Amino acid sequence: MAYGLLNGKRGIISGALDDKSIAWKVALKAKEEGAIFTLTNAPIAMRMGAINQLAEQCNAEIIPADATSVEDLENLFTKSQEVLGGKVDFVLHSIGMSPNVRKGKAYADLNYEWYKQSVDISAMSLHKMLQTAYKLDAISEWGSVVALTYMAAQRTFPFYNDMADAKALLESVARSFGYHYGKYRNVRVNTVSQSPTPTKAGSGIGGFDKFFEFAEKMAPLGNATADQCADYVVTLFSDFTRMVTMQNLFHDGGFSMTGISEEVMGLLAKE
Ligand code: NAI
Repeated sequence: MAYGLLNGKRGIISGALDDKSIAWKVALKAKEEGAIFTLTNAPIAMRMGAINQLAEQCNAEIIPADATSVEDLENLFTKSQEVLGGKVDFVLHSIGMSPNVRKGKAYADLNYEWYKQSVDISAMSLHKMLQTAYKLDAISEWGSVVALTYMAAQRTFPFYNDMADAKALLESVARSFGYHYGKYRNVRVNTVSQSPTPTKAGSGIGGFDKFFEFAEKMAPLGNATADQCADYVVTLFSDFTRMVTMQNLFHDGGFSMTGISEEVMGLLAKE
């Protein structure tokens, strides 16, 4: 059921790679709730072609941008305003990639060039997006920016590797820029810390299946799905959350606040 939560709102949605992507679900939900938006992803991701299908479904234009390139981001914000007919009201940052994770480098044996890339793509890109938008004054008053993150920023999950460091920086950028953009245009900036979700980026993390199952058994409500994440993100783009900013918001069925669950205790008892 749609509520018209985003009627009349314009936005930019990054990171929709395929129909499993969290950004893909956010795009469908934002469309359902009445928003118009542009879609963006790294030029290299366009080759997979799936995003065209989403664009058609959402009646949205695609503007390729490598999130590490300020030039590409300037083009993204300028073109989006042209296409949508005004400043944007919401931005989704749904971008993450670690060459160290991809190539199986252990945390105690990182390749530092790749480490820089992990941080640039997965965290500094949020700063670059926000700074570009700020300089172009491209986000309207009371606009909302949401970036997706994971709890490895607060607690250690060994297999999450250098992405944990990137997420810690991402969350810090959201707090710091949330202050500056709040003062400037009452724009809010938050991160949503999502449950493990079977997507391209998620499944790339070592031992994902086991960890997914563990989190499912720990969280009293179970793991939050990508669709449920989209529901939550849409509320953060809506006018109902105008005073929520600089927060890291857990969307994880209660996992982050659970010490141990009866299900996990039961599994240990069997050993
Ligand atoms: P995904 O693989 O569908 O999305 C990641 C996106 O990042 C892809 O669309 C990819 O093309 C894009 N990307 C990579 N390098 C880029 C660059 N240089 N410029 C622009 N875009 C680039 O996977 P998912 O899970 O939907 O990831 C979205 C966000 O959610 C990421 O920040 C991820 O860390 C976060 N997240 C994912 C969880 C999971 O278990 N899947 C859990 C918590 C957070």
